Amino acid sequence: MTNEERAILISAASRARENAHAPYSQFRVGAALRANSGRIFTGCNIENSSFGLTVCAERVAVFKALSEGERRFDAIAVVADTERLTPPCGACRQILWEFCRDAEVVLANLSGQITMRRVPDLLPDAFDASFIEKKED
Ligand code: THU
Repeated sequence: MTNEERAILISAASRARENAHAPYSQFRVGAALRANSGRIFTGCNIENSSFGLTVCAERVAVFKALSEGERRFDAIAVVADTERLTPPCGACRQILWEFCRDAEVVLANLSGQITMRRVPDLLPDAFDASFIEKKED
């Protein structure tokens, strides 16, 4: 993807971050996922008083896109206000592996620093549907 396309995705993620519901951690994250169709789906983290029900920005973006019928993705930007760029958590890596394997993962902060990752590098030796054997009862 071009630098300009990357910048557009990062700014969509930054805007989505403003909608984060993070009263418990105060840690606001935004994500923007680009489908091969060109459509961009944003997400932010949504925390819950029952902490374990919290959903990360990345998964919100992926599930929004899937629910709109998108199945192929070429990039996802993740933005947080950290000096050390914030990478996706383990649960999100599994979701990215299953649904966005070919997507470039763009990590960015509010100071304009960015770095790129590939999904297979974020989740080596991943478990997926290919391990689930169908057995006759
Ligand atoms: N969080 C995300 O939304 N994405 C990440 O990549 C890392 C963590 C959220 C979950 C929780 O609301 C807060 O950040 C602190 O973990």
